[in-house]
Amino acid sequence: MLSYRHSYHAGNHADVLKHLVQVAILDYLLQKDKPLCYHDSHAGAGLYSLASEQAQKTAEYQQGIGRLWQYQAKSAALGRYLSLIHSLNPDNTLAFYPGSPKIASLMLRPQDVIQATELHPTDYPILASQFARRRHSRIENMDAYAGFKAMLPPLVKRGLVLIDPPYELKNEYNDLVAGLQEAYRRFPQATYAIWYPVIERPAAEAFITAIVGTGIKNQLRIEYCPCPDKAGFGMSGSGMLVINPPYTLADTMRDALTELAPMLATNTSVNSDNTAPLWQVSQLVGE
Ligand SMILES: C[S@@+](CC[C@H](N)C(=O)[O-])C[C@H]1O[C@@H](n2cnc3c(N)ncnc32)[C@H](O)[C@@H]1O
Repeated sequence: MLSYRHSYHAGNHADVLKHLVQVAILDYLLQKDKPLCYHDSHAGAGLYSLASEQAQKTAEYQQGIGRLWQYQAKSAALGRYLSLIHSLNPDNTLAFYPGSPKIASLMLRPQDVIQATELHPTDYPILASQFARRRHSRIENMDAYAGFKAMLPPLVKRGLVLIDPPYELKNEYNDLVAGLQEAYRRFPQATYAIWYPVIERPAAEAFITAIVGTGIKNQLRIEYCPCPDKAGFGMSGSGMLVINPPYTLADTMRDALTELAPMLATNTSVNSDNTAPLWQVSQLVGE
């Protein structure tokens, strides 16, 4: 039973971090003329109206993109990300927020491939309709991990695989680790970006340890927690674990997060048990 709908959360602080990292990676890959493949394993609906009942009910975007979108960024990655948001909102009113496949479609060239899997029976057709006319695209109503087996490796042997599950089910962390190993075995040249929530610090650390424990080399951790750990309930922050990151990504994200971090923070002090900073960019496993 799939109860998660991303429309309740679109544009929140976790989306801002995730999509900023996505944009920075794609911008790097786009420097080469050679086509690339973008594979989105948990793609969502693609485009979200912030006026929808769901978005208005939680109003999470107001603490995320809502605080940020009029800002004149100094760092290149933040500027590029915000320019994409503006391209969807030309009337200077924040009405729409792009999901990860939409961000990819705004950035990629006609020769690049977009692949996506989305299981939800309502969100899948909304997503698929946005790609119906795009030549090099394959959008499937399929389980993410079955999709790795069916769709990887792509014909184009460079690209980005974004893995962004809702983490609603108990076995989702284990499924992800197994699925990542399968995908990596099939497509080791790709960059992988895996989103994870920080709800309870020990659970987040256990997840990182499990990914490091796969033995896959070259892992970069990028994390941003606008709320202190144990602030009460809910998600204090989130991270992206990036495998095979562009060599520029760590510095690009340090610049972007230095600028972004105070803007979404609800408390800029370190967390209550003084173990986690507001943001971090750290190499976990070397090349
Ligand atoms: C966090 S949302 C994705 C948001 C999207 N990546 C973005 O950034 O705009 C997670 C999505 O995964 C879908 N989903 C959940 N389990 C899945 C599975 N096993 N395979 C494919 N999609 C799944 C949900 O329906 C939901 O739309």
